[in-house]
Amino acid sequence: MRERIEKLKQEAKKFEIANKLHLEKFRLEFLSKKGKLNDLFEDFKKVGSDEKRAFGQMLNELKNELEEKFSALTEKMSSSGKTEIEQIDFTLPGEAVALGSRHPLSIVQNQIIEIFKRMGFIISEGPEIEDDWHNFSALNFGENHPARDMQDTFFVDKDFTLRTHTSSVQVRVMQNQKPPIRTISPGRVYRNETVSARANCFFHQVEGLYINQDVSFADLKLTLFQFVEEFFGKGTNVRFRPSYFPFTEPSAEMDIYLGTSSEEDIRLTKGTGWLEILGCGMVDENVLKNCGINPDEFTGYAFGMGIERITMLKYGIKDLRLFFENDKRLLEQFAGIA
Ligand code: DAH
Repeated sequence: MRERIEKLKQEAKKFEIANKLHLEKFRLEFLSKKGKLNDLFEDFKKVGSDEKRAFGQMLNELKNELEEKFSALTEKMSSSGKTEIEQIDFTLPGEAVALGSRHPLSIVQNQIIEIFKRMGFIISEGPEIEDDWHNFSALNFGENHPARDMQDTFFVDKDFTLRTHTSSVQVRVMQNQKPPIRTISPGRVYRNETVSARANCFFHQVEGLYINQDVSFADLKLTLFQFVEEFFGKGTNVRFRPSYFPFTEPSAEMDIYLGTSSEEDIRLTKGTGWLEILGCGMVDENVLKNCGINPDEFTGYAFGMGIERITMLKYGIKDLRLFFENDKRLLEQFAGIA
């Protein structure tokens, strides 16, 4: 018994306590109910009565010693050690809040809107679920008109579709406003197309419409040239190409030159180097009539551009699918652009 008491004494002496964790370890090892000191007291019960006195004294001394060491160090730790609050270093830099970035399509849409706003256009919007009349019939697509096939349509039911273009908003505006009308309509459109680097089942357009007395094709060209110059910069290579849309006569498409230097450019432009960015034309007489505007009194032009195409051109994004994958590696590159 004597040796064991002596041994425990030495062990406790050697136990180094540098922090609160050590202190707790010390308490558990020596002073707790299951600790070494208690073990000795258990064995002490079996000691013969002649030795009880001497060992009892030694044990009590050891107990006092250990308790003193524990309480002295406990005190030291809490007085010399700082309180929990004091241990916090308030001068450390905070954790940075991760700021999101605007989606490139929103950035470009805003830039397009800004340019046309400066030219006096105001914004109008329409529904994405659209009835057949606004999406097709009013725009001079007869019921069995083959041009309905130009746009692969998602049908909601027999009367309603997901709009295939923002041209449907033109109709709503003309029905509800008297000329002069000068408006742009940004929005999402839907087409039942196979997803590829050039096409997606939904995408975005900005529609433009100007109706007044004596509006001419020259006005249309001037406006679009002005837009391209402001958006892409002076000297951008553009061309007008005759085209066909049921709702404009004459109709044209505008292309921008991308070149054929890379394989992706060749794929995107089908080898021509030119990428179509918009359709346009003089609003067809029938459309004006359908919307309650007298074609003898007013003429007008309209255009519709694809925001994805324009964004690809501006930022050199070569695959349209990237816009819809929400990959942060793409999106983060647009941080800080309004
Ligand atoms: N709606 C046409 C499309 O989605 C684009 C378009 C062409 C709009 C000519 C127009 C226009 O306003 O005049 O393909």
